[in-house]
Amino acid sequence: MQTHEIRERFTNHFLAAGHSVVPSASLILEDPDLLFVNAGMVPFKPYFLGQQNPPFPSGKATSIQKCVRTLDIEEVGVTTRHNTFFQMAGNFSFGQYFKEGAITHAWTLLTDPIDQGGYGLDPERLWVTVYLDDDEAAEIWETKIGVPTERIQRLGMEDNYWSMGVPGPCGPCSEIYYDRGPEHGADGGPAVDDTRYMEIWNLVFMGKERGEGTGKDSFEIVGDLPKKNIDTGLGIERVACLLQGVDNVYETDLLRPVIDAAQELTGATYQGDGPDAVRFRVIADHSRTGMMLILDGVTPSNEGRGYILRRLLRRIVRSARLLGATGETLEKLMNVVMDTMTPSYPEIAENRERISRVSVVEERAFLKTLESGTHRFDEAASSILASGSTHFSGEEAFALHDTYGFPIDLTLEMAAEAGLEVDRAAFDAAMSEQRARAKADNKAKKHGHADESVYREWVDNHPTEFIGFSELSADAKVLGLVSHGRSITEAKEGEDVEVILDVSPLYAESGGQLGDRGRIISGTTVLEVNDVQKIGKRLWVHKAKVASGGLDLGQTVTAEVDPDWRHGAKQAHTGTHLIHAALRQVLGPTAVQAGSLNRPGYLRFDFNYTEQLTREQLAEIATIANQAVDDDMPVNTIETSLDEARKLGAMALFGENYGSKVRVVEIGGPFSMELCGGTHVEHSSQIGPIAILGESSVGSGARRIEAYSGMNSFRYFSKEAALAANLATWFKAPTEELPDRVSQLSEKLRDAAKQIASLRREQVLANSGKLLDDAEHVGDFTLLTRRIPDGVTSNNLRALASDLRGNLHGRPAVVVLVSVDGDDKVPFVVSATKEAVDLGVNSGDLVKQLAAHLDGRGGGKPDMAQGSGSNIAGLDDAFASVRADLVSR
Ligand code: ALA
Repeated sequence: MQTHEIRERFTNHFLAAGHSVVPSASLILEDPDLLFVNAGMVPFKPYFLGQQNPPFPSGKATSIQKCVRTLDIEEVGVTTRHNTFFQMAGNFSFGQYFKEGAITHAWTLLTDPIDQGGYGLDPERLWVTVYLDDDEAAEIWETKIGVPTERIQRLGMEDNYWSMGVPGPCGPCSEIYYDRGPEHGADGGPAVDDTRYMEIWNLVFMGKERGEGTGKDSFEIVGDLPKKNIDTGLGIERVACLLQGVDNVYETDLLRPVIDAAQELTGATYQGDGPDAVRFRVIADHSRTGMMLILDGVTPSNEGRGYILRRLLRRIVRSARLLGATGETLEKLMNVVMDTMTPSYPEIAENRERISRVSVVEERAFLKTLESGTHRFDEAASSILASGSTHFSGEEAFALHDTYGFPIDLTLEMAAEAGLEVDRAAFDAAMSEQRARAKADNKAKKHGHADESVYREWVDNHPTEFIGFSELSADAKVLGLVSHGRSITEAKEGEDVEVILDVSPLYAESGGQLGDRGRIISGTTVLEVNDVQKIGKRLWVHKAKVASGGLDLGQTVTAEVDPDWRHGAKQAHTGTHLIHAALRQVLGPTAVQAGSLNRPGYLRFDFNYTEQLTREQLAEIATIANQAVDDDMPVNTIETSLDEARKLGAMALFGENYGSKVRVVEIGGPFSMELCGGTHVEHSSQIGPIAILGESSVGSGARRIEAYSGMNSFRYFSKEAALAANLATWFKAPTEELPDRVSQLSEKLRDAAKQIASLRREQVLANSGKLLDDAEHVGDFTLLTRRIPDGVTSNNLRALASDLRGNLHGRPAVVVLVSVDGDDKVPFVVSATKEAVDLGVNSGDLVKQLAAHLDGRGGGKPDMAQGSGSNIAGLDDAFASVRADLVSR
């Protein structure tokens, strides 16, 4: 049975049982705990926790969710069942059926004959596990389903208690295993051998909420969820492996063609076990995961998701090399995997070019890295082995990473293959030192609602009615007041408070648009609203300060949007869509949105793109966007289904979890069409001018465009124009001649500075004889310490010191010269006559003493040494330390 059919049968089974069919969410959801969606239940988390009501009237849903798990990447290809990308088919009940329903639904689908829509698995080969004390589940399996007691095993928390690994919903679970037969391992059921007995379905009886803790079995259960729920996960790939009678998940219908393509590309043959077979499987698995990640908007980079993608792609390239490939491989592999996956994921079709381009660019870059880095690695490895050691130092690994872009995982793998052990701790130390140096400005997440339980009752039963698309003012009732995470009944003048209303015209921050500013008034009471945040996607929390009067729970108020704020926010948000559309016209579809922010007068747009934009590209983007303003295009919003929106060609941005109804914002027909819940102007001309401020990098693989909108653009242009006009007056030249003038002037300045420096030098050298008048007697020595006029470089200092020493020869003498050069560096030189050196003076040591006071470093020989510092304020102390040294001799 082909994978697509396995998927279809699953969906039909649960559709027939009254479940709503929910499409897979993107692999990337805004969940700070997760890099990627890794289970079918992830998009449903708020429903389990009771933060939101599930939008399915039946309270039952089914999905086939794209999942990525990269924790056990080393297991890929080694075991028979580890895929980094897999499809988790699940059925979910939100307070509807519980254990018995879940068990019965699963059993019938697995064992119903093929001609009746089931998978036709032999019931005699199915085993189940339940949680230690879950008598209820064991009883259902035994009496209702008829599984013999000896095929029901009880396991502990680690195996049979499921949570997301972080605080959230959890519960005991029951797993269904298929016995693949004695040729695959030992007797004794899943408790003994989980290769022979392959887990295919996990039924989680999700009724509890867990707290902090680590590992699978050391966390606290903090309480009951509002309802008893069901969350299940069936591994589509594993069922395919069984139903297609193949040995492992890599040989199923969707992945085997990739192995075949890899055979062609490398000339090697896929057979049996051993390192070659593993490499083929790695290629198949990673090609698919890489393709699906790129599809959902990830681009290779050195951090987070981008790094995982990079690592996967690089492992493919390297595996192919090791199998004998000499040229590029990714384009072909990606094509094959796109072909096999498109029937289930039709959106691949319109992204083929982008997916191919992203992977090919990465492969080319990596091949270069591989070449130079491998050379360096081999040299290091052979000299270590030659010395009889197996210790690959952390510094060497760091150098490979830092200079050659060699990821540590690659170094680890190559070292292991060469029989070497990398000093991981030393590498990590070097890395964290580097990180500390270049600490990125990781902005704290804006909403710090650590504990949202105080809002739960309103989220469930009194979601806010938002009327702000059409109204800027509304009469409303105060349903709740919250202060410091606690519900209160009144707020007094001067206090900060969060206000929950039944109706609100104020926009709550989302989709990059900041929350509205406005007021809540009632009689003489006035609250200034300075932010609005959304909880559980449905509750508006107005963060306000009581400016005058007081506010009570239950009071009737008028909530008003600050119209200027809203006007500005609309301009900026529609402006962001124009920039997005213009950007894609100029850069092509590879420039995928990574984030945005807009507030009155300002917008920024982040996108995945690996190259810096040229000035011409920026100018073109600005022109297209402003032309769109001038064209006065109508802005329409359409409410429709996600499918319909896709058909219209709307851009669905990754990271969003869309409900069944979506809102499409369309500007000028095909010009721009995006799924968006923000507020927008009615006509593009209302945005006013858009002034692009510039473009910059935000972490590797992503870039940012910033711009002003509306009157802010005007102010910006006026300021720039005034600046240019001032300069024109100053230079007595028309503005268009300014660039030439400035460059001429700076050239002249440079020449003049050079001349001054050379004059100084000549002056100093000419007067060197006179300097000797200042020499002093220190113990047995003649000592000359001098600050030489600024601007003398260290080379000239040396020449001068040598000259002076010449004049002092025949007696023990030391010359110390210090200056300050153009860049605020403090060069210094010490020279000593032969007689001084004979008495034990060492210029190198003296230079080190100077360096300590002048904040610098230096070194040299006994008769001549030099250094450079940064702190001329330490000069007196520096000279004093030389004196003290000589006196003591
Ligand atoms: N959420 C459960 C799992 O991932 C079904 O195994």
